[in-house]
Amino acid sequence: RIVYVNGGFLPEASASLSIFDRGVLFADAVYEVTAVIDGGLVDFDAHQRRLRRSLAELGIDFDPEEAGLLDIHRELIHRNDLREGLVYLQISRGVADRSFLQPTNAQPSVILFTQAQSLLDTPAAESGLSIITQPDKRWHRRDIKTTQLLYPSMMKTLADERGAHDVWMVEGGHVTEGSSSNAHIITADGSLVTRPISQDILHGITRAAVLDYTRETGAGVVERAFTVAEAQGAREAFITSATAFVTPVTAIDGVPIGDGHPGPATRRIRAHYIDHSR
Ligand code: PDD
Repeated sequence: RIVYVNGGFLPEASASLSIFDRGVLFADAVYEVTAVIDGGLVDFDAHQRRLRRSLAELGIDFDPEEAGLLDIHRELIHRNDLREGLVYLQISRGVADRSFLQPTNAQPSVILFTQAQSLLDTPAAESGLSIITQPDKRWHRRDIKTTQLLYPSMMKTLADERGAHDVWMVEGGHVTEGSSSNAHIITADGSLVTRPISQDILHGITRAAVLDYTRETGAGVVERAFTVAEAQGAREAFITSATAFVTPVTAIDGVPIGDGHPGPATRRIRAHYIDHSR
C-alpha cells in the first residue's frame, strides 16, 4: 500500500511518524473517514467542513483547502487502485517535547491511508446488527472528531465478546450513539427519531444526508433523544456512518426490533443513500 505522510507518498513500510507526535502521546489529533465507491469519494466536502470545525475547536492551525487535501485523497485512491473502501485522514497538532501545555509553534502532522473494504454488499446490510447497550463514559466533546477512541474501542470489543455486533451508548437514560456510528429509530407512525446534534454526539455526515432525504420524502423527522426501551419497541432501528452507510439494527439487548428482520424504511433509506453516493 502507498500511504501519505507530511507531503510525501510512499510505501507503508517506509512511512514513519515521530514518537513525540502529539497524536501518539496525547491523542491530540483529529481525523476523518471518507468512503470510496467505484473509485470516487463520498460526500468529501461535508467531511472537509467537519474537519475544519474539529481543527478550529482544538486550535490546530491547518487549512484543509490550502493543503490540497482533496487532491491528496484522489492521488492516494489512484496510486492504490482503490475501488471500494475508505480513506483515513489524521491531522495532529504536531511534534513537540512531551508537555501537557500545548505547543503554539508545532507543525501539524498529516497522514492518510486507504483501506480496501466491501461497503455495499455486507452481511450486516442483509441480516442486521445485534446491539448491546452500555453507559457512555466518553468525554463531553464528542462533536470533535478526535482520535481519542479508547472507550468506543473497548465497547466494540465487549460487544464482540458477548456475541453482539456493536454497542449503543446510553447517558441519562437516553441513547447517545454507537461506538462509531449515529443511532436512529423509526417509530410506529413512520417518523425517523434521532438525537439532535450537540456536544453529546458526533455530527455525522451520513446522519445529515439521511435526515435531508427523509424530509424530502415527506416522512416525519423528529430530532429528540430516545430511550433504550423506546428503541426496543420501535418499528425499525438503524445506524449511520461513512463506512456502514445505513445499516439495520435487528436486536437491542436481546430484544428483536419489529419482526427481527431489516425493515422497509431502513432498506429504502440505505438504497437511496447509496444511489446518491455514486
Ligand atoms: N466513525 N459517531 C461516532 C462516534 C463516529 O465515530 C462516527 C463515524 C459517526 C458517524 O459519522 P459519519 O456519518 O460522518 O461517518 C458517529 C467513523 C466511520 C470511524 O471512526 O471509522
